[in-house]
Amino acid sequence: MKAVALTRYLPIDDPQSLSDVELPTPSPAGHDLLVRVQAVSVNPVDTKVRSPKPQIEAQPKVLGYDAAGVVEAVGEAVTRFKPGDAVYYAGDITRPGSNAQFQLVDERIVGHKPASLDFAQAAALPLTTITAWELLFDRMSYALDGGGAGKSLLVIAGAGGVGSIAIQLAKLAGFTVIATASRQDTIDWCKALGADHVITHREPLGPQLKALGVDTLDAALNLADTDRYWSELGELLAPLGHVGLIVEPRGELRIGDPYKAKSIGIHWEMMFARPRFRTADMGEQGALLDRVADLIDAGVLRGTLTETLSPINAANLREAHRRLESGTTIGKLVVAGW
Ligand SMILES: NC(=O)c1ccc[n+]([C@@H]2O[C@H](COP(=O)([O-])OP(=O)(O)OC[C@H]3O[C@@H](n4cnc5c(N)ncnc54)[C@H](OP(=O)(O)O)[C@@H]3O)[C@@H](O)[C@H]2O)c1
Repeated sequence: MKAVALTRYLPIDDPQSLSDVELPTPSPAGHDLLVRVQAVSVNPVDTKVRSPKPQIEAQPKVLGYDAAGVVEAVGEAVTRFKPGDAVYYAGDITRPGSNAQFQLVDERIVGHKPASLDFAQAAALPLTTITAWELLFDRMSYALDGGGAGKSLLVIAGAGGVGSIAIQLAKLAGFTVIATASRQDTIDWCKALGADHVITHREPLGPQLKALGVDTLDAALNLADTDRYWSELGELLAPLGHVGLIVEPRGELRIGDPYKAKSIGIHWEMMFARPRFRTADMGEQGALLDRVADLIDAGVLRGTLTETLSPINAANLREAHRRLESGTTIGKLVVAGW
């Protein structure tokens, strides 16, 4: 099968940072599906895993997490899917990735592709959607059905991949959503996704919130830079508020006052935790992707794809990584077709 892989960890401008290779097609066993991959999306985690370091892989390492495709064959323990089913999933960071014509993935973390989306649109969703959903509804424990009613929520990096679906899920839960964006294109995108207000993360947040009549926040999702907004959020969050984090801090975080004094809940989300540690409830990821597919097909949520490169090959994946590394993409970038 065709695949895009690395053996060395090089800057993305190096043509050998990602290469076209031929690899054996794997066979499914147990709970695994063998998926014929039709489209993949690129996330910051792809670029973080690929980031330059001296390590050398003995065998080509295939990256890629988000994918949409068609089930080709199933392991003997599979119950939720059959060959021919269209699926979408974010995969497992500990296994060979989706940048290949065929991939093995555990059925428990796979959802049925939304019928109303094509493969490229579907591939844009899983990783960011699992992240935003688990953060809001599992880690922070808000109810999807009205848990945000009467509450304010700040979404830092509203136009990013995670922010684009977090805004929509938060609106669905009833929050008043204030998103941050720093450019006209990203401001417009956040508003189109339903944000009630958009402020810029290039200026102090407090005065902008005050100008909107928001004195304190009930909750905040920091989807960009944990250290940079830490002390400001500590001041802005209301007593008994909640903060959600998804980005590794560069330094040490002081979790005492004002967070302790106000009894603010600090919630980490790592969307690969369930598959990586094979938690007993890992099937919740497949279930949430099925629920999201229903919400998409009902027109309650919209897709977040903004751009598609084609075909899936090393040149286009290098270009996709390069754009992601710029930190200025809007919504999701997908690479589709072979
Ligand atoms: N823990 C997990 O499970 C998990 C899951 C997914 C992602 N992540 C991490 O979360 C981060 C965001 O992921 P993503 O996919 O949403 O990224 P993304 O799509 O690359 O985000 C791009 C957006 O970030 C905004 N941005 C850039 N620098 C910013 C800053 N300093 N402050 C606020 N906003 C900024 C930009 O908005 P403007 O152009 O308007 O400035 C841009 O639209 C990444 O570090 C990623 O690795 C973690």
